[in-house]
Amino acid sequence: MSKLIVLAVGLLVVAAAPVRAFHDEGVAHCNGCHTMHNSEDGQLVDPDAPHGNPWLLVDETPSDVCLGCHATRSGAVFSVDPLNPATERGAGNFIFLTDDNLNDGHSGASNPISGDAAGHNLNAPGHGLAADGTLNNAPGGTFPASVLGCTSCHDPHGTQDFRLLYGAGRTVQDFYTFTNAAPTAVGIGLSGAGESNSNHTAYQGGMSAWCGNCHGNFHNNNTDLVHPSGQALGGTISQIYDLYNGTSDISGGAHATAYLASVPFEDAGNATNSTVGPTGTSQVSCISCHRAHATSAPNAGRWDFNVTGLAEDGHESGSYTIPNPYDEFQRSLCNKCHKKDEFDALIDFTPVP
Ligand code: HEC
Ligand code: HEC
Ligand code: HEC
Ligand code: HEC
Ligand code: HEC
Ligand code: HEC
Repeated sequence: MSKLIVLAVGLLVVAAAPVRAFHDEGVAHCNGCHTMHNSEDGQLVDPDAPHGNPWLLVDETPSDVCLGCHATRSGAVFSVDPLNPATERGAGNFIFLTDDNLNDGHSGASNPISGDAAGHNLNAPGHGLAADGTLNNAPGGTFPASVLGCTSCHDPHGTQDFRLLYGAGRTVQDFYTFTNAAPTAVGIGLSGAGESNSNHTAYQGGMSAWCGNCHGNFHNNNTDLVHPSGQALGGTISQIYDLYNGTSDISGGAHATAYLASVPFEDAGNATNSTVGPTGTSQVSCISCHRAHATSAPNAGRWDFNVTGLAEDGHESGSYTIPNPYDEFQRSLCNKCHKKDEFDALIDFTPVP
């Protein structure tokens, strides 16, 4: 064995050793989030609450505690500027909740849709966020919007599941029981390269059922006529997905390179670096159309459902333009599975300034 190979093997062993960080797939050291006396070096740990707060937390609410570390680092799920969000890692950034207008449809500038609709609102006054002003409960279910926060979905005391998410039988925030398991998935790193077609969350299964813990059988109910979720794509749609390479190239794609991070599907074979398209048994999921946290489009859309051409996104509202995975002729990404743009005129949707 040459010296170089010995060195390479040595490096691999080092890389495989577990990285000790904060949560370590379980409960982190308690004082990362709790303070027993609200006092350190004779100073208040939470200066806004001289008498302490209900769970002896280091900040006002559970979400403010999490954002203390996660706003701009450790995955940066909040960011500081809604026009310059932190790197996309899958769930999207909560900063878009602070936008004054998300409406990029026709006449969107004069008919604003508030940032409230960008996704899941959080009870986090320390970061300028409050409960949703429109929705009182999770549509399709009963989970109250008033207490929605990071710890409605993530277990502050850790689990071995994907992204510390709560699963079946777990009591959330002391009052609400989840009935469906945490999704099976593998996430990308919280630092380094962000989401791309070859570096993305590997959605393997269970996301639709997991969202259903709060949203019931929303979009997946055999009696209501709603779009399926958690159902197989079937041969026809999976083939459309494989060949579709944009409005300007309906059938130029190939199975080996078809994966589009903007419109993911669930499949047990997905890996974070896989670029292959779906098979007939891969599933359409809530996450095919939505992100879990928030986006700069209404309803946490992975793309803006109100625009005709993706190049128009952000123009009427002045909100962040969601990156367009194809070219200036691109229409709605629903077409990745349905190719309803097959016989359309190629129009350059780039807005005239
Ligand atoms: C990552 C932050 C974090 C860490 C680390 C953490 N906690 Fe908590 N803990 C919270 C939050 C937030 C709540 C408030 C309840 C909620 O939002 O689910 C809480 C609530 C509690 C509660 C009251 C409610 C309940 O679930 O019983 C106890 C007791 C508790 N924590 C103990 C601990 C102990 C002991 C440790 C260390 C072994 C610890 N916590 C570590 C964030 C954390
Ligand atoms: C003291 C800083 C700190 C606090 C407070 C904190 N985190 Fe983290 N968190 C980290 C770090 C560092 C990582 C990356 C390494 C790791 O998983 O420990 C991380 C990772 C995560 C991950 C990704 C885990 C994975 O397996 O991919 C999630 C989800 C998360 N945190 C949620 C939360 C939530 C929810 C809270 C509030 C209850 C919280 N964090 C509070 C520092 C913190
Ligand atoms: C812990 C409960 C809970 C879970 C789990 C949950 N949601 Fe929600 N969701 C809510 C609540 C409560 C609201 C209404 C309040 C709000 O919008 O902030 C909501 C609102 C929404 C909205 C509308 C946002 C708006 O303002 O227009 C979308 C879209 C959504 N959820 C999608 C999802 C998806 C997709 C998942 C799974 C990845 C999911 N939800 C998981 C509780 C939940
Ligand atoms: C409605 C449920 C929900 C809420 C509320 C929520 N998360 Fe998440 N979070 C998720 C899901 C689901 C994922 C995995 C998304 C994916 O990979 O598509 C995730 C992913 C993450 C990640 C990994 C990085 C990324 O961008 O994907 C971090 C870190 C994280 N959440 C922290 C937080 C913090 C901190 C809060 C509160 C400020 C929070 N989450 C609120 C459901 C939620
Ligand atoms: C095929 C794409 C697609 C899938 C899959 C999908 N959604 Fe939606 N969702 C949308 C669109 C588009 C809207 C905007 C309103 C409408 O068209 O009904 C929306 C709206 C919503 C809303 C807001 C409703 C309101 O009253 O404001 C929620 C909540 C929601 N979706 C949750 C989910 C959940 C949970 C799942 C999975 C069980 C899911 N969606 C699957 C496309 C989708
Ligand atoms: C990841 C793939 C995927 C995406 C993205 C997707 N769909 Fe679908 N859609 C499906 C599947 C699978 C079915 C069920 C087809 C069946 O049962 O034959 C379906 C069914 C439908 C139907 C009912 C058709 C029928 O035959 O009854 C409509 C309408 C529809 N989708 C519209 C949309 C719209 C609008 C969007 C974008 C907001 C969208 N879809 C995005 C996969 C997708």
